[in-house]
Amino acid sequence: MEIQKQLKSHGAWVGKWTFILAATGSAVGLGNIWGFPYKAGTNGGGAFVLIYLGCILAIGLPIMVSEIVIGRRAGNSPVNAMRRVAVDSNTTPLWRFVGWSGIFAGVLILSFYSVIAGICLNYIFISATSSGALSATDQFSNVISSPLNLLFWHTVFMTLTALIVSAGIKDGIGRMVKILMPLLGMLMIFMVIYAMINGDFNKAMTFLFAPDFSNVTSDTLLQAMGQAFFSLGLGMGSIMAYGAYMPKDQSIVSNSFTVASLDTLVAIVAGIAIFPIIFAFSLEPNSGPGLVFVSMLSAFNQMQYGQFVGPLFFILLSVAALSSSISLLEPGVAYLSEEGILPRKRSAEIIAFVAWVLGIGSALSFNIWSDFHLISDRNFLDSMEFITNQVLLPLGGMFIAIFVGWFMKKSLITDEIGAMNPVLYMLWRFFVKFIAPLSVAYIFYRQFF
Ligand code: PFF
Repeated sequence: MEIQKQLKSHGAWVGKWTFILAATGSAVGLGNIWGFPYKAGTNGGGAFVLIYLGCILAIGLPIMVSEIVIGRRAGNSPVNAMRRVAVDSNTTPLWRFVGWSGIFAGVLILSFYSVIAGICLNYIFISATSSGALSATDQFSNVISSPLNLLFWHTVFMTLTALIVSAGIKDGIGRMVKILMPLLGMLMIFMVIYAMINGDFNKAMTFLFAPDFSNVTSDTLLQAMGQAFFSLGLGMGSIMAYGAYMPKDQSIVSNSFTVASLDTLVAIVAGIAIFPIIFAFSLEPNSGPGLVFVSMLSAFNQMQYGQFVGPLFFILLSVAALSSSISLLEPGVAYLSEEGILPRKRSAEIIAFVAWVLGIGSALSFNIWSDFHLISDRNFLDSMEFITNQVLLPLGGMFIAIFVGWFMKKSLITDEIGAMNPVLYMLWRFFVKFIAPLSVAYIFYRQFF
């Protein structure tokens, strides 16, 4: 009796942290530290930041709650979760296509994610040995101009991802995340302080927080919304898959708040660390995907002990990327192994292999394929980003909101949401039913029609 009681409480404690850690690990990654600053930079700064924050609140947060509600209710992989909850709500099992689209999006995202994460791995060594003789901009050009170099690091990162998922040692990475993510947070704050002292802080704050709406186009809206989905890891079932492991006694709403706030905080802090350096070193804020690598290396080159702080930064960033990339594999792997089609290990290997092959296109888009345009004037990597961030994730999210808002049985929802302030509940319902799907539809409409 005593033993049983002890086991139970131990299990609940582990469970309590597992979900928040896994979900924060999935959310916080390259999207925050690599993606957000460079997108804010290419889209003019303040207005983009404000629209991004609006999207997190009005679209992202309500959809995050919805995804977890479905995932925890069903306790399955996203494809089966959508089907099961749809059937339990007396509607068509065809809703499972949302799960399929998620698996597809996960593979596409993982393909380019691994190339960028590979560059992070490479920078662990570059920042440890850089003497500053070569400018940070030239250094980045060197890195991306070599296909073999990019492919090597892409392969290393993808292998690490597949190994972690196939070994099923999520607990292990959970523990790593628990220690290393707060460390990454502290290092980011250190970089903010460094940037405050050595960078052009005022100019950066104006750039990031004084919105100028005169240049906002439908494309800015779409990019900000896409970035919000990508950063929170929504619209493809990742968080739905993790929701399946969330204990019933935890509040979905407050957990979602925690994860979304941490994710947003890291993105904003990354912006405040990077832009003062960009302006002080006369680098271009709109220089694109190289922004974080160029700005951080410039800082480490100047900094005392930069050869230690630099590698630490890139190690932590790589761990943050790993805890996200494993969640990109999870919906597909969970489905294949749950259906008994393939064992977990095989599933992880095969999906990672497909993503690895696709990733070759993204690695080459930095050099020998730079003139090859896949979707209008976008190169291979940009096209993958576009299809996923700006089409598949928002579309998946919109369908999830429509499903929960209009089709899912109310009693199933209230069972999962549990006791909650009625006003907050009504507000959430209103956002899921109307605001979130209509905002996505409106932004799509403006951009594509
Ligand atoms: N949220 C991750 C990041 O910001 O780097 C990337 C990501 C993870 C996107 C999981 C989508 C996802 F389902």
